[in-house]
Amino acid sequence: MIKAYVREADYLNFYKKQTEAYSTRSMELVKVNALFMPTLLMLVGLSTILTIYLGSIEVINGRLSLGNIAEFVIYVNMLTWPVASLGWVITIVQRAAASQKRISEFLKEVPDIVSGAEPCDTIKGHYEFVNVSLGYEANRPLVLKEVSFKIPAGSSLGIVGRTGSGKSSLVNLLLRLADPVEGTILLDGKNLKTYQTDSYRQHIGLVPQDVFLFSDTISANIGFGIPGKEVTDALIEQAARNAEVYSNIMEFPDKFNTRIGERGITLSGGQKQRVSIARAIIRNPDVLIFDDCLSAVDTITEEKILKNLTEVMKNKTTVFVSHRVATVKFCNKIIVLDEGRLVEEGTHEELLQRDGMYRQMFEKQLMENPEPDLS
Ligand SMILES: Nc1ncnc2c1ncn2[C@@H]1O[C@H](COP(=O)(O)OP(=O)(O)OP(=O)(O)O)[C@@H](O)[C@H]1O
Ligand SMILES: [Mg+2]
Repeated sequence: MIKAYVREADYLNFYKKQTEAYSTRSMELVKVNALFMPTLLMLVGLSTILTIYLGSIEVINGRLSLGNIAEFVIYVNMLTWPVASLGWVITIVQRAAASQKRISEFLKEVPDIVSGAEPCDTIKGHYEFVNVSLGYEANRPLVLKEVSFKIPAGSSLGIVGRTGSGKSSLVNLLLRLADPVEGTILLDGKNLKTYQTDSYRQHIGLVPQDVFLFSDTISANIGFGIPGKEVTDALIEQAARNAEVYSNIMEFPDKFNTRIGERGITLSGGQKQRVSIARAIIRNPDVLIFDDCLSAVDTITEEKILKNLTEVMKNKTTVFVSHRVATVKFCNKIIVLDEGRLVEEGTHEELLQRDGMYRQMFEKQLMENPEPDLS
């Protein structure tokens, strides 16, 4: 970004200022530290000299014995170190207090999502949204408004809508990354909140909208979907094949052991998305959620992936989020969101018959992108 927007000079300047400020402060600290020990030693010496000087006068005047002076000097020396350490300890405690304040902020943070008590060993995957509303912040408008629909177990649901219409927010609700402010989400007839969150999420394979890849090998990134001890090469390969990224990977010199850079910068956008899909598929979850995960893939590859997925999705509840009608038209049911409201619901054919938003989107996209010929 810095190169593309030619902001090198500004950022160099910024960096210079920061390091200079740091260096000035460090020098100040070093100066204080350098003065500290000599001053301390000087004060200790001074106190001894003073004691001896004033004490000697008293001895000459016969008011004190020599033994008293010696005793006093020894006591002063014995007390110097504990008192000096006290000061030292106080500075350490104050430094720690500053750090502790930050640490406590984290420790005191209470998660918004409270895990339920019920373990979730097996799920059928029947979801029901009943008048669900969602808002992220109290004083901002709702992101989802009274949304109600069902996803029968083992069926697929497509969600389409303009950007910002609340599709990803709906996915967050499904994963319990957010809780509705009103209404309920039922899973197999029970409120989603009653289940333990981690045992529930174990059943879900998510392909998020923002692909997140680790700076590791491709196989590690795909294998991330399942516990380390269950990962095998065969599983990784199969997942890559289903996600249509196998041939791409085989073209890399190190194949599955190719290391990908930070956040996957060495892969193309579409390759990243497909690695992310492979990660979800390898999990063989009961519920699959794809959040706009084919946006960077060309239509022909998309069709291939969708074809492979029909096998993977068999008897699994699947949710497809997309801007493109072509991605969701195979779904058993499609819902259309507009500004947080569910405006249309039905199969592809049913929605086309209605002269609504879905049909408008379909016609526009058909003009831009005619159906690919797979033969
Ligand atoms: N974590 C968040 N905190 C506050 N507001 C949010 C948050 N996430 C999303 N929003 C807001 O919620 C609204 C819906 O966002 P959402 O991501 O669900 O849209 P979307 O339909 O997935 O859009 P897109 O097609 O661009 O992915 C937006 O107005 C957005 O600003
Ligand atoms: Mg989104």
